[in-house]
Amino acid sequence: MFGLGKKTQNKTAPPAVPAVPGPSATHAAPMPSATLGVTEQDVLGALARIQDPDLRRDIVALGFIKDLAIDRGRVAFKIELTTPACPVKGEMERMAREYVGALPGVEKVEVSMTSQVRAVGPATMGLMLPGVRNVIAVASGKGGVGKSTVAANLAVALHSTGARVGLLDADIYGPSIPGLFGMTGRKPVIKELPNGEQAFEPHVGHGIKINSIGFLPPLCDDPMQPVIWRGPMVGSGVKQLLQQTDWGDLDYLIVDLPPGTGDATLTLAQTIPLSGVVIVSQPQEVALNIAVKALKAFQELKVKVLGIVENMSYFVCDNCDKRHDIFSHGGARLAAEKFEVPFLGELPLSSDVRESSDSGTPVVALKPDSQQALAFMDIAKALAAQVSIAGFSQRKVIPLRAI
Ligand SMILES: Nc1ncnc2c1ncn2[C@@H]1O[C@H](COP(=O)(O)OP(=O)(O)OP(=O)(O)O)[C@@H](O)[C@H]1O
Ligand SMILES: [Mg+2]
Repeated sequence: MFGLGKKTQNKTAPPAVPAVPGPSATHAAPMPSATLGVTEQDVLGALARIQDPDLRRDIVALGFIKDLAIDRGRVAFKIELTTPACPVKGEMERMAREYVGALPGVEKVEVSMTSQVRAVGPATMGLMLPGVRNVIAVASGKGGVGKSTVAANLAVALHSTGARVGLLDADIYGPSIPGLFGMTGRKPVIKELPNGEQAFEPHVGHGIKINSIGFLPPLCDDPMQPVIWRGPMVGSGVKQLLQQTDWGDLDYLIVDLPPGTGDATLTLAQTIPLSGVVIVSQPQEVALNIAVKALKAFQELKVKVLGIVENMSYFVCDNCDKRHDIFSHGGARLAAEKFEVPFLGELPLSSDVRESSDSGTPVVALKPDSQQALAFMDIAKALAAQVSIAGFSQRKVIPLRAI
């Protein structure tokens, strides 16, 4: 559709989720004799007191401890998490230092926190997108609820934790990601891959690799042009955009879907190999009812619902600091409980969010210390945790079928 040669696999497919290794697989150094001081068993025993609250197992059993080395009173090891966006990273490090430091004979504890994001999703993902570990769609029941705003800010928030992040604007009828990143009018950059095939070079904004139909003609010359694509073209067009972009190695590729659960969205949900979907809703009943329909539609398609976000959840007045629940409040949390899907968090209705979007810099990048940015950070961490959980209870196949 875009006249590029089909990109063949030129990268090593990401590893499948490994079986959880037992403690014996977590160390490299031989076990010193107890008479010489602290032993490896002592250290692993102390570290086994630390639970991962999301995965609900101790970090030794989860295989997080790597490169354990003991040299008399000095103990060094790595804690390898399943995401750099782990919400309890700092707490785990603190506990590891405290518990190991309290062992008799330990004089110095050296801990380094690392991460290895695991691939979650259907087997086709590794084939279609070698190098991309997780593809997360952002969807909504209805339009205008802040889906693109959430997608853009979650991408920036995940990147700020150290993750490698891409963002695909799959809203072919109303691509807004170029505008949110101040990239309106950017033209496509075509590169040649080592195997001679051609691919789009993503534009990079705030560390995020971005591609959008908005970068292609005629939209890059005139964003007001309508895109007149019918059903099958939507699926094949976005599939090409997805596959013919040189994403490189990504921990998370966020996909901003078109609004609603019409033909375009559902076709895309079946075309793109997804790790899961995040549903954005406003709190008022009418919006929430439609969000629940979207939730059920994705569940019908066997796409994992990673969670619901309540956007425009409340408003804090500049002058009086009083909180106003303009569109009601808390409905998305209740819906999440009712349908047994995770509730990822709530975002305030804030002129800072709208103004920063309009200025071409997502609020997480523009005002990282603001209350609004911190709310996005919390949601990004909750999302990353859900991806990690999904990785440990992964379904093998996501069947494609129409509903
Ligand atoms: N939390 C918020 N506070 C204030 N304004 C917001 C917030 N979230 C989104 N907006 C604003 O609401 C408008 C719609 O947001 P956005 O474009 O992200 O919605 P959308 O669901 O992607 O829309 P569409 O369905 O058209 O794709 C934008 O002007 C955006 O800046
Ligand atoms: Mg949008």
